[in-house]
Amino acid sequence: MEFSIRAAAPEKAKTGCLVLGIYKAGSASAPKLTRAAQAADRAAGGRLREVLAHGDLSAKAGATLLLHKVHGLAAERVLLVGLGEQKEFGETAFRDTVRGAAGALKGLGAKDALLYLADLRVAGRNAAWKVRHAVLGLREAFYRFEQLKTQKKSPLPALAAVALAAQSEPVTLQARAALREAAATADGVDLARTLGNLPPNICTPGYLAEEARKLARQFKLGLEVLERRDMEKLGMGALLAVARGSHQPPKLIVLRYSGGAKKQKPLVLVGKGITFDTGGISLKPAGEMDEMKFDMSGAGSVLGTLRALAGMKAPVNVIGVVPACENMPGGAATRPGDVVTTLSGQTVEILNTDAEGRLILCDALTYAERFQPDAVVDIATLTGACVIALGHVATGLFANDEKLAGELRAAGDDAWDRVWPMPLWEDYQEQLRSNFADMANIGGRPAGSVTAACYLSRFAKKLRWAHLDVAGTAWKSGRDKGSTGRPVPLLVRFVLRHAGR
Ligand code: BES
Ligand code: MN
Ligand code: ZN
Repeated sequence: MEFSIRAAAPEKAKTGCLVLGIYKAGSASAPKLTRAAQAADRAAGGRLREVLAHGDLSAKAGATLLLHKVHGLAAERVLLVGLGEQKEFGETAFRDTVRGAAGALKGLGAKDALLYLADLRVAGRNAAWKVRHAVLGLREAFYRFEQLKTQKKSPLPALAAVALAAQSEPVTLQARAALREAAATADGVDLARTLGNLPPNICTPGYLAEEARKLARQFKLGLEVLERRDMEKLGMGALLAVARGSHQPPKLIVLRYSGGAKKQKPLVLVGKGITFDTGGISLKPAGEMDEMKFDMSGAGSVLGTLRALAGMKAPVNVIGVVPACENMPGGAATRPGDVVTTLSGQTVEILNTDAEGRLILCDALTYAERFQPDAVVDIATLTGACVIALGHVATGLFANDEKLAGELRAAGDDAWDRVWPMPLWEDYQEQLRSNFADMANIGGRPAGSVTAACYLSRFAKKLRWAHLDVAGTAWKSGRDKGSTGRPVPLLVRFVLRHAGR
């Protein structure tokens, strides 16, 4: 889908579908038309008000009503979109409105559309924010994953070009830049979603490495893939312990985007890339185990974020580090009770082979030290406990640096891909004690997401580091089962804001 910014008179615009906003009526009064809707209504001799008087447009933000060939308007169709109460038209209503419009547009034969939404006033948000959220909301709604179905559900939506009207605001350079940023971000989100949705027999560690190679070729990124023998030489005993039970060879993918100044220290993003998590010898129960194909979502978000940043030619230096392997039971698999030596030199007693994410991440974090990073952020579907704590709304945020935590929180709010801070207090560390090694890889049931983060913090002492537990936010279960692409929008915003954009 192509996006553009257009300054046009709504009544004169030749478009497949003109999208106009309508605020909810106050008590006993008529619905309130936005400025663009008023202009169109005037040209149409009051037809829009007349239709609205019938009460067919529900008052909810995102409700829609489609009209064809309105006399006096150049557009083929008019889609009226409910905005809810004008005084409550904030971030949530704006996003609901975009989603509602997108849902209606999907079912139309219109090849192009002109939307008067990003020109509406949203308290505290500028034109760039509205453009970004309009583009990302539309792209999210139009995403499909049908490559493995022989019978496609329904024909592809016809909509190929979307123009966002800049009516009350001038067509600023800022809005144009926001458009480019959002389209590239959406490409990154799509990539993360598709990698997450691919089944574990296709999306293997080797597949992730190949995907990184494709990105490297397409966007001229630096790429290095460490093989099992390289990890053995380095001494990545924890990562290797997880890979032992699988026939799929592990990969450590290092993908480098250098768009910034040479002397600028890089940000490093580390993504958990467990392409399937059976639990290993500490086998998971059968119910919903298929969802553990999403256990590489952190990895997918790192590749997606790099794709986004490279696609928009962002002036930043970012390195993606993806430890990828499969967690399987098998004759050679790691046993509960095994003690391994990590790349850092610290020893770990693996009391539960299902706490494998932290084992591959700890070696990747130590490996990240060599890039002398400005900061390191890891992204991982790390604990079921985080889902219990924060549900499917907020990503868990842990950090050893307050400023970094603040930046991630602000970026999450901006991208509406939100995180919530969790403690990393010393008091929790004692849950990780082991009688036989420097530490255990589990800390018992209480505060499971916190002790997982505490474990990681022991490998991040030399780093400005944050950990995002996306176990509750990276995918949806149930009827709408599928990858969400989170937290790509957050990560892109974070990197750009960190660079002063
Ligand atoms: N990938 C899982 C975490 C997970 C579980 C994410 C459910 C989303 C939904 C992780 O590897 C895991 O198995 N964690 C264990 C840790 C426990 C053994 C300490 C968990 O959360 O149960
Ligand atoms: Mn696990
Ligand atoms: Zn896992």
